[in-house]
Amino acid sequence: MEKTERYDEVAKEITAVLEGESNLTARMATVSNILHHAFDHFFWTGFYVVDPDKPDELVVGPYQGTLGCLRIPFGKGVCGAAAASGETQIVDDVHAFPGHIACDARSESEIVVPVFDHGGALIAVLDVDSDRKAMFDEGDKAGLEAVVKASFAA
Ligand code: SME
Repeated sequence: MEKTERYDEVAKEITAVLEGESNLTARMATVSNILHHAFDHFFWTGFYVVDPDKPDELVVGPYQGTLGCLRIPFGKGVCGAAAASGETQIVDDVHAFPGHIACDARSESEIVVPVFDHGGALIAVLDVDSDRKAMFDEGDKAGLEAVVKASFAA
């Protein structure tokens, strides 16, 4: 199956499961679980949320995979770059990314999508890591951005 089709299918499943649930933690837990189990190349899948007590810092939220770092300052690493710029980051080789935060040395490539609420405020980033190099492309960007938009900005 084409990646685009798979993302369409997964997005439908996520929307169906989230229906009627407004709690953000429950929504993020559901999104990370369904995405993580839908794609073989996802090694770590989860959210870093904007800390309400420290608005220039991300704190780990719901995720699937090996132990994640707890906190990431805005501007630091791939997640911090996505949060600071508001733009999706695709990194083919995390070891070559300046300031990359290695929570698990097995992570090789990564995509991070900013998460906005319906008012356009940044509330989190969605971070997906692979244990293989260059596993994320424009198809993943489009698929993950669509999932995030439907799940948190609608
Ligand atoms: N690699 C990330 C840190 C988070 S973890 O990989 C789970 C980064 O540099 O933003």
